[in-house]
Amino acid sequence: MAAALGRWPLWLTLCLGASLAVDRGNFKSCEQSGFCRRQRRIQPGNSPYQALLESLQLGPDVATIQLVNEVTQVPLLLELWGLTGNVTRLRIQELSPLRPRYRVPDVLLGDPPAERLEVTGRDEGTLELSLGPGGHRLLVTERPFRLDLLRQRELLCSVNARGLLVFEHQRRRRDSDPPKDPPGEEGAAQEGPEDGAGSTQSDKPAEPPAEPEEEPGAWEETFKTHTDSKPYGPTSVGLDFSLPGFEHVYGIPEHAESLRLRPTEGGDPYRLYNLDVFQYEVFTPMALYGSVPLLLAHRPRLSLGIFWLNAAETWVDIGSNTAGKTLFGKLLDYMQGGGETPQTEVRWMSESGVIDVFLLLGPQPADVTAQYGRLTGTQALPPLFSLGYHQSRWNYQDEADVEAVERGFEEHELPLDVLWLDIEHADGKRYFTWDPAKFPNPRGMLERLAARKRRMVSIVDPHIKVDGGYRVHTELRARDLYVKTKDGNDYEGWCWPGSSAYPDFTNPEMREWWANMFAFDQYEGSTEALYTWNDMNEPSVFSGPEVTMHKDARHFGGWEHRELHNIYGLYVHKATAEGLIRRSGGRLRPFVLSRAFFAGSQRYGAVWTGDNTADWEHLRISIPMCLSFGLAGLAFCGADVGGFFQNPGPELQVRWYQAGAFQPFFRAHAHLDTARREPWLLSPEHLALVRAALRRRYALLPTWYTAFYHCHRQGIPVMRPLWMEFPDDPHTFAMDDQYLLDRVLLVHPVTEPGARGVNVYLPGEGEVWYNDETHEQHRAPQTLYVPVTLSTIPVFQRGGTVIPRQDRPRRSTEAMKGDPFTLYVALSPQGTAQGDLYVDDGISFDYATKNAFLHRHFHFANGTLTSSSADPRGSMSSPAWLERVVILGVGRPESALLTTHGERGLGGFGVLGWVFGILGWVLRGVLGF
Ligand SMILES: *[C@@H]1O[C@H](CO)[C@@H](O)[C@H](O)[C@H]1NC(C)=O
Ligand SMILES: *[C@@H]1O[C@H](CO)[C@@H](O)[C@H](O)[C@H]1NC(C)=O
Repeated sequence: MAAALGRWPLWLTLCLGASLAVDRGNFKSCEQSGFCRRQRRIQPGNSPYQALLESLQLGPDVATIQLVNEVTQVPLLLELWGLTGNVTRLRIQELSPLRPRYRVPDVLLGDPPAERLEVTGRDEGTLELSLGPGGHRLLVTERPFRLDLLRQRELLCSVNARGLLVFEHQRRRRDSDPPKDPPGEEGAAQEGPEDGAGSTQSDKPAEPPAEPEEEPGAWEETFKTHTDSKPYGPTSVGLDFSLPGFEHVYGIPEHAESLRLRPTEGGDPYRLYNLDVFQYEVFTPMALYGSVPLLLAHRPRLSLGIFWLNAAETWVDIGSNTAGKTLFGKLLDYMQGGGETPQTEVRWMSESGVIDVFLLLGPQPADVTAQYGRLTGTQALPPLFSLGYHQSRWNYQDEADVEAVERGFEEHELPLDVLWLDIEHADGKRYFTWDPAKFPNPRGMLERLAARKRRMVSIVDPHIKVDGGYRVHTELRARDLYVKTKDGNDYEGWCWPGSSAYPDFTNPEMREWWANMFAFDQYEGSTEALYTWNDMNEPSVFSGPEVTMHKDARHFGGWEHRELHNIYGLYVHKATAEGLIRRSGGRLRPFVLSRAFFAGSQRYGAVWTGDNTADWEHLRISIPMCLSFGLAGLAFCGADVGGFFQNPGPELQVRWYQAGAFQPFFRAHAHLDTARREPWLLSPEHLALVRAALRRRYALLPTWYTAFYHCHRQGIPVMRPLWMEFPDDPHTFAMDDQYLLDRVLLVHPVTEPGARGVNVYLPGEGEVWYNDETHEQHRAPQTLYVPVTLSTIPVFQRGGTVIPRQDRPRRSTEAMKGDPFTLYVALSPQGTAQGDLYVDDGISFDYATKNAFLHRHFHFANGTLTSSSADPRGSMSSPAWLERVVILGVGRPESALLTTHGERGLGGFGVLGWVFGILGWVLRGVLGF
């Protein structure tokens, strides 16, 4: 929950305005952020950088070239790699830094394998490198320095073409002594800045170059009442990328923004700086809770990605040469033949660190997401229960309240998997404890829930109450595991428990300690049915600058908070997920929800869009937000159903359930000050609609789980923009009011009040789509007007696909175990269809460690449905069986046959009867597992 409540001191109550709007004054604009202001003032076309081509050194897989700034004479080192799978990496660092710069650890899965580089051409002022078998070549231009990346003869991307490479080399302050560093620490995961090995690449210490006069703010910056001491002065980096032919770029979550990013000229750049933003607004480039510095670009026949691996505050400018041009203007350009090719310019600016960039060269959208997945990991396969419905509120008061809410779900026949407890459950916001009056018997409560095949999530936040009687605090203080101030004291700030300290999760020893706290004998009252939620891990510091930690705070190894701010939340998430794995002896999959995130967070669990508001715009924006998360690897995304702040009316609440039922993470949540809104508090008519939405979610769980399996294995998002599946159809490129679930269902939630109908775009030349409820068939491409009532969720199954469902309503996912499957076979115009089903125990790692899973492939052609193994490694005995096959798109057939290829025989089946008149027939049989 966000940082605001009336009972907190002045700096908090400041944000409690009467209107529901973010207080922009609490957060920096580019102009107020020194390095952003400095970089944005640089005019294009004057790059002082020169590539010293004669310095080229070609190793087996890396090429290095020195760059020099002709004004300051400070040398940089450029390293280039052609990585396997169509990825080019470039890194730029200072050749002889005064102090090591932070290179983000723990995000890449390992050293990505590289191809052999070769010099394939050289002339006056240019060098050509070939980058392995993908046919990619890199032209390095000497003066000014520039890179052009080509595939055969096609230019994909240029680097520093606008001359905006910035590398603020480290320098000594002219009018004072060099800053004193706190003592170095032992055992840094990478060489820390205080290891005394400042210069790694050169024997000679750097000559402090003569500096031109420095602008105010270079060595100290003040924002509102906070002064940032900036002991190392200006250290920012920046670089520009030109993308010829591209008009559509996406990604760089988290922003409350349309899926397609907008040009930033005339406004602020998009900001990446993990912040607890109270009552955020939609359609702004302002920073939010998480950051993934991955941008995607798409045009017909080509998708690219730019992954900027830097964890410091970052701003991204997007320019377009067609922005502001009307359609008519573009047409005129075209007719006169003088139209420039559209081009997008992307400029990254970070406050510190090095330039480390991965160019993901596609060519297809799914190749880009797979390339990113190979670098940073794919979405962890969630335990099946976590794909069910979650009921949360700040706060369920006590054990009796929990029991009453759970009973409400039972009595109203609403499926539910997980009940959530927010901060009030703990004893005075001391996490890992329970309020003794309200939750005297947590174990009993958890056992009652487990007996009904349900689970609980409790919140564990990373701010620790400073209290000599609280074990977590006393141990962390004794072990010296807190983040430090610039002066070396424990960093303290104000948060929910009052005065709080912040564990240094960048320290592996801290993460180890934290993970062990989830052991059943450490976290008292916990059982296997209790899972975890990490909130406020940006970190949120109510009394800090921009509601977060001071940038000059110190971390393990002597690094400044400024250098790693955006990765702090990932470390909290990681340590918690590891704790849940460890408590089960490595057997069970964790479930952890995190608000803050960074590149790689997908390996640790789910994320959500933070503290949204109960209004229609926030419902609408949840779709592009989760689509952006998915493109950046974070497939397990959701938005608080109903909206966190304020009270939704019944129509909005119903529409939100209907939309949420088709988003990956499905949780209702609400602020402490809102009215209770459990579904049965609605009218019976509205309650029935919520029940229908929940049941629709549960019926499709086999499809969701199979989609998550695809995502886990291939790095392809579960919730996909249309252009991922229809990459050559420009109609889809800016669409974000509808999307695909995997490749099989097209969803267009109703997000307008009083809607009578929605326009749904059905893509795919020569394809057909089937209304998921009426089974009516529609030709594509077309924009279809779909009349709606309050009960309608417009969903279409793609012709040519098979989806598995489990249609028997149950109280939870666990209660569905062993239920039979129904296959919905939607025929293509050619009369064929294919699809798959993934099944495992839903909870353990046995699918990975023991191949205990089944992955079946279905193919329908010529009146025969064939089931075969999609992955021969998988074997598992399963009670699963096939109840029905529903075939969409045929008249009454003469006959139907179900056959199985594979290890086991097929039981008998018989045609049970007609389900949908002209639409199909039903088969009965076993799946042939
Ligand atoms: C690499 O790019 C080529 C096209 O140049 C494409 O055919 C191939 O599938 C791509 N490989 C991967 C792993 O993305
Ligand atoms: C279906 O039947 C047609 C003709 O009877 C044949 O040409 C085609 O190969 C068959 N398709 C499959 C997938 O068996």
